[in-house]
Amino acid sequence: MWQLRLLGKLILVLLGVSTWAHTLSIPEENSIQPTHSSSGPCHAVEPTEIVCRGMQSLEEVSNHIPEELRAQVTKLTLENAVQGVWTRDDLVKLPSLHTVVFNHSYFSEWELPTRPDAPSLSRLILEDCWNNNTLKTSKMRSTLSLTTETLAGLGGLEEFHIIDCYVLDLNLSSIDTVKPLQLLNIVGGGLNCTKDKLWMLDWMEVGRANITNTTRCFVVSSGEMILFSTRYSFNDHQFLLCMKYVKETERDCPSQCQCNVQGFKESQYPIIHLLCERVGLTQLPEVIPRCTTRMQFGWNNITDINTLFTNENYRRMDSILLNNNQISYINGDLFYNYIKGRPLDVYINLANNKLTTLPIKEINRIYEEARQTSQLFYPTFNLADNPWNCDNCSFLPEFQKLVYYQSTMIPDYHDIRCPSDSEHHPKKRLILIDVKSQCSSGPPLLSSLDILNITLALLLLLLIINFLHNFYQYRRHGKLPWIIIRMPCC
Ligand SMILES: *[C@@H]1O[C@H](CO)[C@@H](O)[C@H](O)[C@H]1NC(C)=O
Ligand SMILES: *[C@@H]1O[C@H](CO)[C@@H](O)[C@H](O)[C@H]1NC(C)=O
Ligand SMILES: *[C@@H]1O[C@H](CO)[C@@H](O)[C@H](O)[C@H]1NC(C)=O
Ligand SMILES: *[C@@H]1O[C@H](CO)[C@@H](O)[C@H](O)[C@H]1NC(C)=O
Ligand SMILES: *[C@@H]1O[C@H](CO)[C@@H](O)[C@H](O)[C@H]1NC(C)=O
Ligand SMILES: *[C@@H]1O[C@H](CO)[C@@H](O)[C@H](O)[C@H]1NC(C)=O
Ligand SMILES: *[C@@H]1O[C@H](CO)[C@@H](O)[C@H](O)[C@H]1NC(C)=O
Ligand SMILES: *[C@@H]1O[C@H](CO)[C@@H](O)[C@H](O)[C@H]1NC(C)=O
Repeated sequence: MWQLRLLGKLILVLLGVSTWAHTLSIPEENSIQPTHSSSGPCHAVEPTEIVCRGMQSLEEVSNHIPEELRAQVTKLTLENAVQGVWTRDDLVKLPSLHTVVFNHSYFSEWELPTRPDAPSLSRLILEDCWNNNTLKTSKMRSTLSLTTETLAGLGGLEEFHIIDCYVLDLNLSSIDTVKPLQLLNIVGGGLNCTKDKLWMLDWMEVGRANITNTTRCFVVSSGEMILFSTRYSFNDHQFLLCMKYVKETERDCPSQCQCNVQGFKESQYPIIHLLCERVGLTQLPEVIPRCTTRMQFGWNNITDINTLFTNENYRRMDSILLNNNQISYINGDLFYNYIKGRPLDVYINLANNKLTTLPIKEINRIYEEARQTSQLFYPTFNLADNPWNCDNCSFLPEFQKLVYYQSTMIPDYHDIRCPSDSEHHPKKRLILIDVKSQCSSGPPLLSSLDILNITLALLLLLLIINFLHNFYQYRRHGKLPWIIIRMPCC
Protein backbone atom coordinates (compact mmCIF):
# COMPACT_ATOMS: atom_id res chain seq x y z
CA MET A 1 0.00 0.00 0.00
CA TRP A 2 2.75 2.44 1.00
CA GLN A 3 4.58 1.66 -2.24
CA LEU A 4 1.56 2.84 -4.15
CA ARG A 5 1.37 6.10 -2.23
CA LEU A 6 5.07 6.71 -2.76
CA LEU A 7 4.63 6.06 -6.43
CA GLY A 8 1.77 8.56 -6.54
CA LYS A 9 3.88 11.21 -4.84
CA LEU A 10 6.75 10.55 -7.18
CA ILE A 11 4.47 11.01 -10.16
CA LEU A 12 3.15 14.28 -8.72
CA VAL A 13 6.66 15.59 -8.17
CA LEU A 14 7.70 14.58 -11.67
CA LEU A 15 4.62 16.30 -13.07
CA GLY A 16 5.51 19.46 -11.15
CA VAL A 17 9.04 19.46 -12.42
CA SER A 18 7.91 18.96 -15.97
CA THR A 19 5.45 21.87 -15.62
CA TRP A 20 8.32 24.10 -14.35
CA ALA A 21 10.46 23.01 -17.29
CA HIS A 22 7.56 23.55 -19.65
CA THR A 23 6.80 27.07 -18.44
CA LEU A 24 10.47 27.96 -18.54
CA SER A 25 10.62 27.00 -22.16
CA ILE A 26 7.89 29.48 -23.07
CA PRO A 27 8.58 32.46 -20.82
CA GLU A 28 7.16 35.00 -23.27
CA GLU A 29 3.69 33.74 -22.32
CA ASN A 30 3.98 35.29 -18.83
CA SER A 31 3.04 32.01 -17.33
CA ILE A 32 5.65 31.74 -14.58
CA GLN A 33 3.86 31.45 -11.30
CA PRO A 34 5.52 32.50 -8.05
CA THR A 35 4.41 29.25 -6.42
CA HIS A 36 6.66 27.23 -8.68
CA SER A 37 9.89 28.54 -7.27
CA SER A 38 9.04 28.56 -3.61
CA SER A 39 11.76 25.99 -3.11
CA GLY A 40 14.63 28.19 -4.43
CA PRO A 41 15.77 31.62 -3.17
CA CYS A 42 14.61 33.38 -6.33
CA HIS A 43 11.32 33.51 -8.14
CA ALA A 44 9.82 35.56 -10.89
CA VAL A 45 6.82 37.65 -9.94
CA GLU A 46 6.70 38.82 -13.52
CA PRO A 47 8.85 37.75 -16.46
CA THR A 48 10.79 40.99 -16.07
CA GLU A 49 10.92 41.01 -12.30
CA ILE A 50 12.79 38.62 -10.04
CA VAL A 51 12.59 38.46 -6.25
CA CYS A 52 15.34 36.76 -4.28
CA ARG A 53 15.56 36.08 -0.57
CA GLY A 54 18.59 35.88 1.70
CA MET A 55 21.22 36.65 -0.92
CA GLN A 56 24.85 37.29 -0.02
CA SER A 57 26.07 38.19 -3.46
CA LEU A 58 24.65 39.01 -6.86
CA GLU A 59 26.50 36.18 -8.51
CA GLU A 60 24.14 33.76 -6.74
CA VAL A 61 21.19 35.63 -8.20
CA SER A 62 22.17 35.01 -11.80
CA ASN A 63 22.67 31.35 -11.06
CA HIS A 64 19.15 31.04 -9.72
CA ILE A 65 17.50 32.63 -12.73
CA PRO A 66 16.83 30.35 -15.68
CA GLU A 67 18.99 31.31 -18.62
CA GLU A 68 16.03 31.94 -20.91
CA LEU A 69 14.70 34.60 -18.53
CA ARG A 70 17.87 36.55 -17.89
CA ALA A 71 17.82 38.77 -20.95
CA GLN A 72 14.45 40.28 -20.11
CA VAL A 73 14.83 40.87 -16.37
CA THR A 74 14.66 44.58 -15.69
CA LYS A 75 13.93 44.62 -11.97
CA LEU A 76 15.62 42.70 -9.21
CA THR A 77 14.30 42.70 -5.67
CA LEU A 78 16.46 41.41 -2.85
CA GLU A 79 14.60 40.61 0.34
CA ASN A 80 16.36 39.80 3.59
CA ALA A 81 19.72 40.13 1.93
CA VAL A 82 22.56 39.62 4.35
CA GLN A 83 25.92 41.31 4.59
CA GLY A 84 27.93 40.71 1.47
CA VAL A 85 29.94 42.43 -1.15
CA TRP A 86 27.92 43.74 -4.04
CA THR A 87 29.22 44.55 -7.46
CA ARG A 88 27.55 45.30 -10.76
CA ASP A 89 30.08 42.98 -12.38
CA ASP A 90 27.97 40.09 -11.12
CA LEU A 91 24.99 41.36 -13.08
CA VAL A 92 26.44 41.02 -16.56
CA LYS A 93 24.15 38.06 -17.14
CA LEU A 94 21.17 40.41 -16.69
CA PRO A 95 21.88 42.98 -19.40
CA SER A 96 18.46 44.70 -19.27
CA LEU A 97 18.44 45.21 -15.54
CA HIS A 98 17.83 48.82 -14.53
CA THR A 99 16.10 48.66 -11.13
CA VAL A 100 17.38 47.09 -7.92
CA VAL A 101 15.34 46.93 -4.74
CA PHE A 102 16.71 46.04 -1.33
CA ASN A 103 13.91 45.25 1.07
CA HIS A 104 14.45 44.58 4.77
CA SER A 105 18.10 44.03 4.02
CA TYR A 106 21.63 44.70 5.00
CA PHE A 107 22.88 47.23 2.48
CA SER A 108 26.64 47.23 2.29
CA GLU A 109 29.27 48.68 0.07
CA TRP A 110 29.37 48.33 -3.67
CA GLU A 111 32.69 47.63 -5.25
CA LEU A 112 33.55 49.58 -8.35
CA PRO A 113 32.71 47.46 -11.42
CA THR A 114 35.61 46.39 -13.60
CA ARG A 115 33.67 44.97 -16.56
CA PRO A 116 32.58 47.42 -19.20
CA ASP A 117 29.44 45.38 -19.93
CA ALA A 118 28.15 45.58 -16.36
CA PRO A 119 24.58 46.92 -16.52
CA SER A 120 24.24 50.47 -15.29
CA LEU A 121 21.44 50.71 -12.77
CA SER A 122 19.18 53.71 -13.02
CA ARG A 123 16.85 53.10 -10.08
CA LEU A 124 17.76 52.00 -6.59
CA ILE A 125 15.11 51.46 -3.95
CA LEU A 126 16.02 50.79 -0.34
CA GLU A 127 13.22 49.88 2.00
CA ASP A 128 13.86 49.17 5.67
CA CYS A 129 17.59 48.74 5.15
CA TRP A 130 20.55 49.18 7.47
CA ASN A 131 24.27 48.64 7.60
CA ASN A 132 25.18 49.36 11.17
CA ASN A 133 23.87 47.15 13.91
CA THR A 134 25.67 48.93 16.71
CA LEU A 135 23.76 52.18 16.60
CA LYS A 136 20.18 52.41 17.64
CA THR A 137 17.51 55.00 17.17
CA SER A 138 14.90 55.66 19.81
CA LYS A 139 12.73 53.20 17.95
CA MET A 140 15.48 50.63 18.36
CA ARG A 141 16.10 50.54 14.66
CA SER A 142 19.46 49.98 13.08
CA THR A 143 20.86 52.80 11.04
CA LEU A 144 21.95 53.11 7.47
CA SER A 145 25.06 55.00 6.55
CA LEU A 146 25.22 55.97 2.89
CA THR A 147 28.75 57.20 2.54
CA THR A 148 30.48 58.08 -0.67
CA GLU A 149 32.26 54.73 -0.51
CA THR A 150 29.03 52.83 -0.02
CA LEU A 151 27.56 54.39 -3.13
CA ALA A 152 30.73 54.46 -5.19
CA GLY A 153 29.87 51.38 -7.19
CA LEU A 154 26.44 52.68 -8.13
CA GLY A 155 27.39 55.49 -10.47
CA GLY A 156 24.78 56.44 -13.03
CA LEU A 157 21.74 56.30 -10.76
CA GLU A 158 18.85 58.43 -11.93
CA GLU A 159 16.39 57.68 -9.14
CA PHE A 160 17.15 56.86 -5.57
CA HIS A 161 14.26 55.93 -3.28
CA ILE A 162 14.86 55.50 0.43
CA ILE A 163 11.84 54.15 2.24
CA ASP A 164 11.56 53.72 6.01
CA CYS A 165 15.29 53.74 6.61
CA TYR A 166 17.11 55.54 9.41
CA VAL A 167 19.83 57.28 7.49
CA LEU A 168 22.92 58.59 9.24
CA ASP A 169 25.26 59.83 6.54
CA LEU A 170 23.98 60.89 3.20
CA ASN A 171 26.10 63.37 1.36
CA LEU A 172 25.18 63.51 -2.29
CA SER A 173 25.70 67.22 -2.63
CA SER A 174 29.01 67.05 -4.41
CA ILE A 175 29.61 63.51 -5.52
CA ASP A 176 30.40 63.18 -9.20
CA THR A 177 28.82 59.76 -9.44
CA VAL A 178 25.39 61.20 -8.65
CA LYS A 179 25.45 63.82 -11.38
CA PRO A 180 22.77 61.98 -13.36
CA LEU A 181 20.55 61.64 -10.27
CA GLN A 182 17.22 63.28 -11.04
CA LEU A 183 15.18 62.21 -8.04
CA LEU A 184 16.05 61.52 -4.48
CA ASN A 185 12.87 60.30 -2.86
CA ILE A 186 12.80 59.84 0.89
CA VAL A 187 9.66 58.32 2.32
CA GLY A 188 9.08 57.91 6.05
CA GLY A 189 11.99 56.71 8.15
CA GLY A 190 14.38 59.14 9.72
CA LEU A 191 17.40 61.32 9.18
CA ASN A 192 19.96 62.88 11.45
CA CYS A 193 18.81 66.51 11.29
CA THR A 194 22.07 68.36 11.10
CA LYS A 195 23.53 71.12 8.96
CA ASP A 196 25.11 68.62 6.60
CA LYS A 197 21.60 67.81 5.32
CA LEU A 198 20.79 71.35 4.19
CA TRP A 199 21.54 70.51 0.58
CA MET A 200 18.40 68.36 0.61
CA LEU A 201 16.25 71.46 1.01
CA ASP A 202 17.99 73.03 -1.97
CA TRP A 203 17.36 69.90 -3.96
CA MET A 204 13.70 69.96 -2.96
CA GLU A 205 13.38 73.53 -4.15
CA VAL A 206 14.54 72.58 -7.61
CA GLY A 207 12.45 69.40 -7.65
CA ARG A 208 15.40 67.08 -7.44
CA ALA A 209 14.43 65.68 -4.06
CA ASN A 210 11.16 64.70 -2.46
CA ILE A 211 10.97 64.15 1.26
CA THR A 212 7.71 63.24 2.95
CA ASN A 213 6.38 65.03 5.99
CA THR A 214 6.34 61.69 7.80
CA THR A 215 10.14 61.54 7.68
CA ARG A 216 11.42 62.20 11.19
CA CYS A 217 14.58 63.33 12.84
CA PHE A 218 16.41 60.90 15.01
CA VAL A 219 19.31 61.15 17.37
CA VAL A 220 21.84 58.39 17.52
CA SER A 221 22.05 56.95 20.95
CA SER A 222 22.79 53.69 22.59
CA GLY A 223 21.52 51.84 25.61
CA GLU A 224 19.92 53.57 28.58
CA MET A 225 21.18 56.99 27.67
CA ILE A 226 18.51 57.20 24.98
CA LEU A 227 15.75 58.86 26.96
CA PHE A 228 18.03 61.31 28.67
CA SER A 229 19.95 62.45 25.62
CA THR A 230 16.89 62.74 23.41
CA ARG A 231 14.66 64.61 25.86
CA TYR A 232 15.19 68.05 24.35
CA SER A 233 16.43 66.93 21.00
CA PHE A 234 14.84 66.87 17.58
CA ASN A 235 14.14 63.21 18.09
CA ASP A 236 10.90 62.16 16.40
CA HIS A 237 10.11 65.65 15.17
CA GLN A 238 9.34 66.27 11.52
CA PHE A 239 12.49 66.40 9.43
CA LEU A 240 11.23 69.15 7.14
CA LEU A 241 10.18 71.37 10.05
CA CYS A 242 13.45 70.90 11.92
CA MET A 243 15.54 71.54 8.84
CA LYS A 244 13.57 74.73 8.24
CA TYR A 245 14.84 75.96 11.60
CA VAL A 246 18.36 74.70 10.92
CA LYS A 247 18.38 76.60 7.63
CA GLU A 248 16.99 79.80 9.12
CA THR A 249 19.49 79.61 11.95
CA GLU A 250 22.39 79.24 9.55
CA ARG A 251 21.16 82.22 7.57
CA ASP A 252 20.69 84.56 10.54
CA CYS A 253 23.75 83.57 12.55
CA PRO A 254 26.06 86.60 13.04
CA SER A 255 29.35 86.00 11.29
CA GLN A 256 31.51 86.03 14.44
CA CYS A 257 29.21 83.65 16.29
CA GLN A 258 28.26 80.01 16.33
CA CYS A 259 24.62 79.06 16.23
CA ASN A 260 23.23 75.68 17.05
CA VAL A 261 19.74 74.28 16.89
CA GLN A 262 19.62 71.89 19.81
CA GLY A 263 16.12 70.48 19.55
CA PHE A 264 12.68 71.18 20.91
CA LYS A 265 11.38 71.71 24.38
CA GLU A 266 7.78 70.77 25.09
CA SER A 267 6.66 73.72 23.03
CA GLN A 268 6.71 73.88 19.28
CA TYR A 269 9.65 76.26 19.46
CA PRO A 270 13.19 75.11 18.91
CA ILE A 271 16.05 75.49 21.35
CA ILE A 272 18.69 77.61 19.65
CA HIS A 273 22.03 78.49 21.23
CA LEU A 274 24.02 81.49 20.14
CA LEU A 275 27.66 81.54 21.15
CA CYS A 276 29.50 84.85 20.71
CA GLU A 277 32.11 84.84 23.46
CA ARG A 278 35.41 86.74 23.26
CA VAL A 279 34.86 88.12 19.76
CA GLY A 280 35.22 91.82 20.55
CA LEU A 281 31.56 92.81 20.13
CA THR A 282 30.75 96.35 21.28
CA GLN A 283 27.02 96.00 20.80
CA LEU A 284 24.38 93.30 20.51
CA PRO A 285 23.79 92.20 16.89
CA GLU A 286 20.45 93.30 15.41
CA VAL A 287 20.00 90.08 13.46
CA ILE A 288 20.18 86.78 15.30
CA PRO A 289 18.21 83.56 14.74
CA ARG A 290 14.56 84.30 15.40
CA CYS A 291 13.99 81.82 18.19
CA THR A 292 17.31 81.99 19.99
CA THR A 293 16.85 80.74 23.55
CA ARG A 294 20.36 81.05 24.94
CA MET A 295 22.84 83.82 24.20
CA GLN A 296 26.42 83.62 25.41
CA PHE A 297 27.97 87.04 24.94
CA GLY A 298 30.56 86.95 27.73
CA TRP A 299 34.01 88.59 27.49
CA ASN A 300 33.13 91.25 24.95
CA ASN A 301 32.98 95.06 25.16
CA ILE A 302 29.22 95.49 25.11
CA THR A 303 28.06 98.70 26.81
CA ASP A 304 24.40 99.02 25.91
CA ILE A 305 21.81 96.24 26.11
CA ASN A 306 18.64 98.04 25.07
CA THR A 307 18.61 95.90 21.92
CA LEU A 308 18.00 92.87 24.11
CA PHE A 309 14.78 94.40 25.44
CA THR A 310 13.45 95.92 22.24
CA ASN A 311 14.50 93.60 19.41
CA GLU A 312 11.94 90.88 18.64
CA ASN A 313 14.70 88.37 17.90
CA TYR A 314 15.66 88.38 21.58
CA ARG A 315 12.12 87.64 22.79
CA ARG A 316 12.55 83.96 23.54
CA MET A 317 15.73 84.01 25.59
CA ASP A 318 15.80 81.92 28.70
CA SER A 319 19.53 82.29 29.27
CA ILE A 320 21.23 85.65 28.84
CA LEU A 321 24.95 85.55 29.50
CA LEU A 322 26.50 89.02 29.43
CA ASN A 323 29.20 88.55 32.03
CA ASN A 324 32.56 90.32 31.58
CA ASN A 325 31.37 93.23 29.47
CA GLN A 326 31.22 97.00 29.96
CA ILE A 327 27.52 97.35 30.79
CA SER A 328 26.92 100.30 33.13
CA TYR A 329 23.20 100.91 32.84
CA ILE A 330 19.95 99.01 32.61
CA ASN A 331 16.82 100.82 31.58
CA GLY A 332 14.16 99.93 34.16
CA ASP A 333 11.09 100.41 31.97
CA LEU A 334 12.49 98.41 29.08
CA PHE A 335 13.62 95.68 31.45
CA TYR A 336 10.20 95.48 33.10
CA ASN A 337 8.37 95.27 29.77
CA TYR A 338 10.78 92.65 28.50
CA ILE A 339 10.29 90.36 31.47
CA LYS A 340 6.53 90.86 31.54
CA GLY A 341 6.13 90.10 27.86
CA ARG A 342 7.69 86.66 27.99
CA PRO A 343 6.34 83.26 28.80
CA LEU A 344 9.52 81.81 30.31
CA ASP A 345 11.86 81.98 33.25
CA VAL A 346 15.00 83.85 32.47
CA TYR A 347 18.53 83.75 33.80
CA ILE A 348 20.63 86.88 33.35
CA ASN A 349 24.34 86.87 34.06
CA LEU A 350 25.66 90.43 34.52
CA ALA A 351 28.69 89.57 36.61
CA ASN A 352 31.87 91.53 35.96
CA ASN A 353 30.39 94.57 34.29
CA LYS A 354 30.39 98.29 35.11
CA LEU A 355 27.07 98.47 36.91
CA THR A 356 26.84 101.04 39.72
CA THR A 357 23.09 100.79 40.10
CA LEU A 358 20.11 98.62 39.13
CA PRO A 359 16.45 99.43 38.43
CA ILE A 360 15.49 98.10 41.86
CA LYS A 361 11.94 99.44 41.75
CA GLU A 362 11.13 97.58 38.55
CA ILE A 363 12.83 94.38 39.66
CA ASN A 364 10.88 94.39 42.92
CA ARG A 365 7.72 94.95 40.96
CA ILE A 366 8.42 91.92 38.79
CA TYR A 367 8.98 89.65 41.80
CA GLU A 368 5.97 91.05 43.59
CA GLU A 369 3.64 90.57 40.62
CA ALA A 370 5.00 87.12 39.94
CA ARG A 371 4.35 86.17 43.57
CA GLN A 372 0.81 87.51 43.51
CA THR A 373 -0.19 85.74 40.33
CA SER A 374 1.91 82.59 40.82
CA GLN A 375 3.47 83.20 37.45
CA LEU A 376 6.54 81.38 36.42
CA PHE A 377 8.79 83.99 34.94
CA TYR A 378 11.05 84.74 37.87
CA PRO A 379 14.27 86.25 36.65
CA THR A 380 17.49 84.94 38.17
CA PHE A 381 20.61 87.09 38.25
CA ASN A 382 24.34 86.87 38.61
CA LEU A 383 25.61 90.24 39.78
CA ALA A 384 29.04 89.73 41.34
CA ASP A 385 32.03 91.91 40.58
CA ASN A 386 30.33 95.15 39.64
CA PRO A 387 31.42 98.57 41.01
CA TRP A 388 28.18 99.20 42.90
CA ASN A 389 27.74 102.72 44.15
CA CYS A 390 27.60 102.04 47.88
CA ASP A 391 27.77 105.75 48.68
CA ASN A 392 24.37 106.30 47.11
CA CYS A 393 21.92 106.07 49.93
CA SER A 394 18.89 106.14 47.69
CA PHE A 395 20.19 102.94 46.11
CA LEU A 396 22.14 101.01 48.71
CA PRO A 397 19.36 100.17 51.23
CA GLU A 398 16.96 99.07 48.50
CA PHE A 399 19.62 97.03 46.80
CA GLN A 400 20.58 95.32 50.02
CA LYS A 401 16.95 94.51 50.74
CA LEU A 402 16.51 93.04 47.27
CA VAL A 403 19.60 90.88 47.57
CA TYR A 404 18.59 89.77 51.06
CA TYR A 405 15.01 88.81 50.25
CA GLN A 406 15.68 87.39 46.77
CA SER A 407 18.89 85.61 47.59
CA THR A 408 17.57 82.42 45.97
CA MET A 409 17.20 84.38 42.74
CA ILE A 410 20.73 85.75 43.03
CA PRO A 411 22.92 82.69 43.50
CA ASP A 412 26.16 84.69 43.72
CA TYR A 413 24.82 87.17 46.31
CA HIS A 414 27.79 86.39 48.57
CA ASP A 415 30.09 87.93 46.02
CA ILE A 416 28.23 91.19 45.60
CA ARG A 417 30.60 93.69 47.21
CA CYS A 418 31.16 97.39 47.39
CA PRO A 419 34.17 98.41 45.35
CA SER A 420 37.44 98.96 47.17
CA ASP A 421 37.54 102.64 46.24
CA SER A 422 34.35 103.15 48.16
CA GLU A 423 35.50 105.15 51.20
CA HIS A 424 33.40 103.48 53.82
CA HIS A 425 33.55 99.79 53.08
CA PRO A 426 36.48 98.63 51.07
CA LYS A 427 35.45 95.37 49.33
CA LYS A 428 32.86 94.69 51.95
CA ARG A 429 30.08 92.23 51.21
CA LEU A 430 26.86 94.05 50.45
CA ILE A 431 24.75 91.95 52.77
CA LEU A 432 27.10 92.61 55.69
CA ILE A 433 27.05 96.40 55.43
CA ASP A 434 25.31 98.25 58.28
CA VAL A 435 23.17 100.30 55.97
CA LYS A 436 21.13 101.83 58.81
CA SER A 437 24.03 103.69 60.30
CA GLN A 438 25.45 104.60 56.93
CA CYS A 439 22.24 105.98 55.52
CA SER A 440 20.18 106.96 58.56
CA SER A 441 16.77 108.56 57.96
CA GLY A 442 16.81 109.28 54.32
CA PRO A 443 19.52 110.83 52.27
CA PRO A 444 20.51 114.23 53.83
CA LEU A 445 23.15 116.16 51.89
CA LEU A 446 25.17 116.82 55.08
CA SER A 447 25.10 115.10 58.42
CA SER A 448 23.95 117.16 61.48
CA LEU A 449 27.49 117.25 62.83
CA ASP A 450 28.67 118.81 59.59
CA ILE A 451 25.95 121.47 59.87
CA LEU A 452 26.97 122.30 63.48
CA ASN A 453 30.62 122.60 62.51
CA ILE A 454 29.87 124.89 59.61
CA THR A 455 27.62 127.10 61.78
CA LEU A 456 30.31 127.44 64.45
CA ALA A 457 32.94 128.26 61.85
CA LEU A 458 30.71 130.96 60.38
CA LEU A 459 30.11 132.46 63.84
CA LEU A 460 33.81 132.44 64.56
CA LEU A 461 34.48 134.17 61.24
CA LEU A 462 31.86 136.86 62.04
CA LEU A 463 33.44 137.40 65.45
CA ILE A 464 36.90 137.87 63.95
CA ILE A 465 35.59 140.27 61.33
CA ASN A 466 33.78 142.25 64.02
CA PHE A 467 36.91 142.38 66.17
CA LEU A 468 39.04 143.58 63.27
CA HIS A 469 36.44 146.23 62.42
CA ASN A 470 36.36 147.49 66.03
CA PHE A 471 40.15 147.50 66.27
CA TYR A 472 40.40 149.59 63.09
CA GLN A 473 37.80 152.09 64.32
CA TYR A 474 39.60 152.55 67.68
CA ARG A 475 43.06 153.13 66.06
CA ARG A 476 41.66 155.54 63.45
CA HIS A 477 39.07 157.52 65.38
CA GLY A 478 39.78 156.56 68.97
CA LYS A 479 36.18 155.41 69.16
CA LEU A 480 35.32 152.48 71.35
CA PRO A 481 32.69 150.15 70.05
CA TRP A 482 29.14 151.24 70.68
CA ILE A 483 28.40 148.35 73.00
CA ILE A 484 31.32 149.22 75.35
CA ILE A 485 30.28 152.88 75.59
CA ARG A 486 26.80 151.84 76.61
CA MET A 487 28.01 149.41 79.24
CA PRO A 488 27.02 150.71 82.71
CA CYS A 489 30.32 149.82 84.31
CA CYS A 490 32.41 152.41 82.35
C1 LIG B 1 9.07 45.41 0.94
O1 LIG B 1 8.41 44.37 1.62
C2 LIG B 1 7.18 44.76 2.21
C3 LIG B 1 6.66 43.57 2.98
O2 LIG B 1 6.83 42.42 2.30
C4 LIG B 1 6.21 45.23 1.13
O3 LIG B 1 5.01 45.67 1.72
C5 LIG B 1 6.85 46.38 0.39
O4 LIG B 1 6.03 46.79 -0.68
C6 LIG B 1 8.20 45.98 -0.17
N1 LIG B 1 8.82 47.15 -0.72
C7 LIG B 1 9.27 47.25 -1.96
C8 LIG B 1 9.89 48.52 -2.36
O5 LIG B 1 9.18 46.33 -2.73
C1 LIG C 1 28.65 51.63 13.36
O1 LIG C 1 28.77 52.93 13.94
C2 LIG C 1 29.77 53.03 14.93
C3 LIG C 1 29.73 54.41 15.51
O2 LIG C 1 29.63 55.40 14.53
C4 LIG C 1 31.12 52.74 14.31
O3 LIG C 1 32.11 52.82 15.30
C5 LIG C 1 31.09 51.35 13.71
O4 LIG C 1 32.31 51.13 13.04
C6 LIG C 1 29.97 51.24 12.71
N1 LIG C 1 29.89 49.87 12.24
C7 LIG C 1 29.85 49.58 10.94
C8 LIG C 1 29.76 48.14 10.61
O5 LIG C 1 29.86 50.45 10.08
C1 LIG D 1 30.14 66.01 1.08
O1 LIG D 1 31.06 65.34 0.25
C2 LIG D 1 31.97 66.18 -0.42
C3 LIG D 1 32.84 65.36 -1.33
O2 LIG D 1 32.55 64.03 -1.28
C4 LIG D 1 32.80 66.95 0.58
O3 LIG D 1 33.67 67.84 -0.08
C5 LIG D 1 31.88 67.72 1.49
O4 LIG D 1 32.63 68.36 2.49
C6 LIG D 1 30.88 66.79 2.14
N1 LIG D 1 29.95 67.59 2.92
C7 LIG D 1 29.64 67.29 4.17
C8 LIG D 1 28.69 68.22 4.83
O5 LIG D 1 30.09 66.32 4.75
C1 LIG E 1 6.70 63.78 -4.00
O1 LIG E 1 5.96 62.79 -3.30
C2 LIG E 1 4.57 63.02 -3.29
C3 LIG E 1 3.94 61.96 -2.43
O2 LIG E 1 4.58 60.73 -2.58
C4 LIG E 1 4.06 63.02 -4.72
O3 LIG E 1 2.68 63.29 -4.71
C5 LIG E 1 4.80 64.06 -5.53
O4 LIG E 1 4.41 64.01 -6.87
C6 LIG E 1 6.28 63.83 -5.45
N1 LIG E 1 6.99 64.91 -6.11
C7 LIG E 1 8.01 64.69 -6.93
C8 LIG E 1 8.70 65.89 -7.48
O5 LIG E 1 8.36 63.57 -7.21
C1 LIG F 1 1.57 65.69 5.43
O1 LIG F 1 1.19 65.96 4.10
C2 LIG F 1 -0.12 65.52 3.77
C3 LIG F 1 -0.36 65.82 2.31
O2 LIG F 1 0.79 66.06 1.60
C4 LIG F 1 -1.11 66.26 4.65
O3 LIG F 1 -2.42 65.79 4.38
C5 LIG F 1 -0.79 66.00 6.11
O4 LIG F 1 -1.64 66.76 6.94
C6 LIG F 1 0.63 66.38 6.40
N1 LIG F 1 0.94 65.99 7.75
C7 LIG F 1 1.56 66.82 8.59
C8 LIG F 1 1.85 66.28 9.96
O5 LIG F 1 1.93 67.93 8.27
C1 LIG G 1 24.58 63.34 13.03
O1 LIG G 1 25.58 62.72 12.29
C2 LIG G 1 26.85 63.25 12.49
C3 LIG G 1 27.82 62.56 11.58
O2 LIG G 1 27.18 61.77 10.69
C4 LIG G 1 27.25 63.04 13.94
O3 LIG G 1 28.52 63.61 14.15
C5 LIG G 1 26.24 63.72 14.82
O4 LIG G 1 26.53 63.45 16.18
C6 LIG G 1 24.86 63.22 14.52
N1 LIG G 1 23.94 64.03 15.26
C7 LIG G 1 22.93 63.54 15.92
C8 LIG G 1 22.07 64.51 16.64
O5 LIG G 1 22.70 62.34 15.94
C1 LIG H 1 37.74 95.81 24.92
O1 LIG H 1 38.30 97.07 24.62
C2 LIG H 1 39.59 97.24 25.16
C3 LIG H 1 40.05 98.67 24.86
O2 LIG H 1 39.06 99.40 24.24
C4 LIG H 1 40.55 96.24 24.56
O3 LIG H 1 41.81 96.37 25.13
C5 LIG H 1 40.03 94.85 24.86
O4 LIG H 1 40.83 93.90 24.23
C6 LIG H 1 38.60 94.71 24.37
N1 LIG H 1 38.11 93.43 24.79
C7 LIG H 1 37.62 92.55 23.94
C8 LIG H 1 37.16 91.27 24.53
O5 LIG H 1 37.55 92.77 22.76
C1 LIG I 1 21.51 106.89 43.37
O1 LIG I 1 20.50 105.90 43.27
C2 LIG I 1 19.30 106.32 42.69
C3 LIG I 1 18.31 105.21 42.79
O2 LIG I 1 18.86 104.04 42.26
C4 LIG I 1 19.55 106.79 41.28
O3 LIG I 1 18.37 107.27 40.69
C5 LIG I 1 20.62 107.85 41.26
O4 LIG I 1 20.94 108.19 39.95
C6 LIG I 1 21.86 107.39 41.98
N1 LIG I 1 22.80 108.47 42.08
C7 LIG I 1 24.08 108.34 41.76
C8 LIG I 1 24.94 109.54 41.96
O5 LIG I 1 24.51 107.30 41.32
